[in-house]
Amino acid sequence: MELGTVRNERLTATNGVVLIVLLLIEGVTILFLRPLLPVHIFVGMLLIPPVVLKLATTGYRMLRYYTGHAAYVDRGPPHILMRALAPLLVVATVSLLSTGVGLLVLGPHSGHGIVLGLHKLSFIVFLAVASVHVLAYLPRVPRLVLARAGAARRLLALVGASIAAGVVLAGATYSLAGPWLHHHEPDGDDHAAAQTLLS
Ligand code: HEM
Repeated sequence: MELGTVRNERLTATNGVVLIVLLLIEGVTILFLRPLLPVHIFVGMLLIPPVVLKLATTGYRMLRYYTGHAAYVDRGPPHILMRALAPLLVVATVSLLSTGVGLLVLGPHSGHGIVLGLHKLSFIVFLAVASVHVLAYLPRVPRLVLARAGAARRLLALVGASIAAGVVLAGATYSLAGPWLHHHEPDGDDHAAAQTLLS
């Protein structure tokens, strides 16, 4: 295999580990959504640059393969099942993240019902397809991530830069989460109800 395809595969796998860790955290926040909504929103936004990096490295491999670049043609395409699932995985992921951003921008008070419905629907599709995707690729990840190949520092710098970009993005947009975080808080509602009764 030519060096370019090796680096491409290692970058995809290393970034994949970052995505698995962030998605596991996101999964826990879904189980306790109300108390963990701040984490849900922060990690959700943080996920965007690593997801973009994943789409870039896998999209690059696809482009190189279909445009007949020798090294990528020699390496061959992914397994037929993974190729069939890929478009659905991409659509579900983009839809999940973009409806998340939509919810953040709309806030809890305007008509966000359809967007929340789409957010949940994309999640169900994403969970099903991403589980197959991760289980299929996980066995080869340790070998790829731990390989002592050249340019490891550049690879880690790229993965690190996408995480840093995610932290900056999540931090910069976090103020938009305010209305969601102060939305139907039982104490606040009781307080408001008591005020109404007293007035
Ligand atoms: C762009 C990043 C994201 C933002 C800003 C975001 C934001 C939100 C918000 C505001 C809610 C509604 C909470 C409420 O009803 O009080 C929500 C619900 C939900 N989110 Fe996200 N989200 C993001 C990414 C994700 C990701 C990556 C996943 C899955 C891996 C996910 C799965 C869910 C699910 C399943 C619900 C519905 C939970 C329920 O109502 O029981 N979100 N999200």
